Amino acid sequence: MTKRIRKAVFPVAGLGTRFLPATKAVPKEMLTVVDRPVLQHVVDEAREAGIEHFVFVTGRNKGVIEDHFDIAYELEDTLRRRNKTKEYEALVADLPPAGATSFTRQQAPLGLGHAVWCARDIIGDEPFAVLLPDMVTLANGRKKSRCLAQVVEAYEKHGGNIIAVEEVPPEETHQYGVVAVGEDYGDSFSITGMVEKPPRGTAPSNLMISGRYILEPEIFAILEKGEKGAGGEIQLTDAMIGLSKAQDFYGVRFDGKTYDTGSKLGFLAANIAFGLARPDVAEGLRAELKKLL
Ligand code: G1P
Repeated sequence: MTKRIRKAVFPVAGLGTRFLPATKAVPKEMLTVVDRPVLQHVVDEAREAGIEHFVFVTGRNKGVIEDHFDIAYELEDTLRRRNKTKEYEALVADLPPAGATSFTRQQAPLGLGHAVWCARDIIGDEPFAVLLPDMVTLANGRKKSRCLAQVVEAYEKHGGNIIAVEEVPPEETHQYGVVAVGEDYGDSFSITGMVEKPPRGTAPSNLMISGRYILEPEIFAILEKGEKGAGGEIQLTDAMIGLSKAQDFYGVRFDGKTYDTGSKLGFLAANIAFGLARPDVAEGLRAELKKLL
């Protein structure tokens, strides 16, 4: 019997240097894809997968993230008084239940592994999800669930630790964590190796780690050591390599599409793809795109 995945960690302390000057005063996670902040899309995905507690690892100058997941009293009151019922109800529907969010700070940018480790006391001794907020996922119409729900499904089947992966062109593998594929089970497979940012031409496959994980709590004891890896940072991938010596890891090929909103092209592509998936703007957007192209 696998345990239920109740808690998710969102590492949102990153500086967003790839997106200056937009991110000078606004956290990169608050930039919008259509009309929702990137981070709201990622939280929506977690809720859809059954997550009940949302743990944000923030940093200095990220206060608006906390405000975004709280009530906005004056705004809600004004909407109510102006009979803007639809807008009011949409705001309330997005609000996590009382007590369902936790915020802690990563005090220095020491790497993704360090950010996840900062959440150890809030997570405690249970398996948990990690969602990288730069990455937004769009369901494949047919399967109708975003990435984390598919990862949870694989966890219920296999147990252990699960990593979502997606194919990238071989010339891009050096920008990501990459996995090596063992036994194949169709949608999922056993992972026989992982490497963070492999030098060009050395990646064990073209399957990149796409930013959705389920990890067993034993990962924290490994992260605790604070060993530095690629780029001089404490890497989550390195800790997973350590844990894979004692526990099983499985990969899930996400049936859908992931967009890296941390890159300019990925951000623009996400806005177009999410716009085309939204009934209220799809038609108009398609017409505008036709004019432009
Ligand atoms: C992180 C992870 C990497 C993963 C990537 C996905 O890297 O360390 O394994 O493939 O996110 O975006 P970063 O983008 O922080 O360099």
